[in-house]
Amino acid sequence: MTATTNRRTLGRTGLKTSIAGLGCGGHSRLGLRKGLGHDHAVSVVRRALELGVNHIDTAESYGTESAVGEAIRSVSRDEVILSTKKSLWAFDGDPPVTADVFVQGVEASLSRLGVDRIDILHIHALATSQIEFAMAEIVPAMLRLREQGKIRFLAASEYFDKDRGHDAFARLLEDDGQPFDVMMIGFNLLNPSARHRLLTRTQELGVGTQCMFAVRAALSQPAKLVEQIGDAMSRGVIDRALIDDPLDPLAFVTDPASAEPGRPAPVTLMEAGYRFCAHEPGIDVVLSGTSSGVHIEENVASISMPALPEATLDRLETIFGSVDCLSGN
Ligand SMILES: NC(=O)c1ccc[n+]([C@@H]2O[C@H](COP(=O)([O-])OP(=O)(O)OC[C@H]3O[C@@H](n4cnc5c(N)ncnc54)[C@H](OP(=O)(O)O)[C@@H]3O)[C@@H](O)[C@H]2O)c1
Repeated sequence: MTATTNRRTLGRTGLKTSIAGLGCGGHSRLGLRKGLGHDHAVSVVRRALELGVNHIDTAESYGTESAVGEAIRSVSRDEVILSTKKSLWAFDGDPPVTADVFVQGVEASLSRLGVDRIDILHIHALATSQIEFAMAEIVPAMLRLREQGKIRFLAASEYFDKDRGHDAFARLLEDDGQPFDVMMIGFNLLNPSARHRLLTRTQELGVGTQCMFAVRAALSQPAKLVEQIGDAMSRGVIDRALIDDPLDPLAFVTDPASAEPGRPAPVTLMEAGYRFCAHEPGIDVVLSGTSSGVHIEENVASISMPALPEATLDRLETIFGSVDCLSGN
């Protein structure tokens, strides 16, 4: 089964999206970060499209918009949901961009993507300290872009690297009239705190959600997992008594004996990470960031699989249910 057969409605946007989305940022940036080059990046996007992924997320700052633009030329524009982002500052702590500079950035994104319309335009990594400015200066500019037909829906992504407990988006969601149709939220099995802090509310308001950080470094690199769990145990964030083997802290997740009827045990932690997110109520799209056509194929298959076994989910909840300070990065 591929992502084609698994579609959902993206909240109040009404867009019909594949549950698996291709993330063109993160550590991989379609391979550009590893020096694999533009043509390779285009081929990863094309492979995702072949697999039925119709939702592609990029950003001005990733350097992948041109590759996405080239790849989607081979399909009808209406078949693809394009999500991109523009940051409010070039570097952390810089003065924020003006609304005019923001709009110029969006025009440049349209040109690199080779389209006349962006489906989902994000304010990239919106921090609590930027909310007031964003609402006063940038959201009105986004609304004008929407009136002009250059964007379809307003969105914001979290600054999850720093805001792991979701302070900024919890504040935004206090307001029934908050303007974002889509939110990109950090969520994974090591830090499920968005479940109660954001996802109940996004569902009430009909806000569509894209999940980022499903796997990141911690679930794709065993040494990082050992390091991060070890650090969390030493800080008292995770109860040591709940971890059988600190050198293989999530061994129970991939234990074949954990399988339940209709819910196979995951073979890898990556599969577990993507399945965990794909079945979370309130998550619409699970982004997978990769440099590899083989990996996106594996991840689309993982996202299409049944939920993790109940007993595994219960044990994960016992260990990580109250964690709100890990990102998995
Ligand atoms: N604040 C923001 O707005 C923000 C921040 C972060 C991310 N994002 C968005 O969210 C997307 C997803 O986040 P992410 O890129 O961190 O993705 P992710 O899917 O959580 O993690 C991807 C990492 O896992 C590895 N990986 C993936 N599949 C694998 C497989 N089957 N086998 C082995 N390794 C595998 C990738 O390396 P390989 O290259 O080797 O596959 C990469 O290092 C980003 O691409 C971006 O679009 C947004």
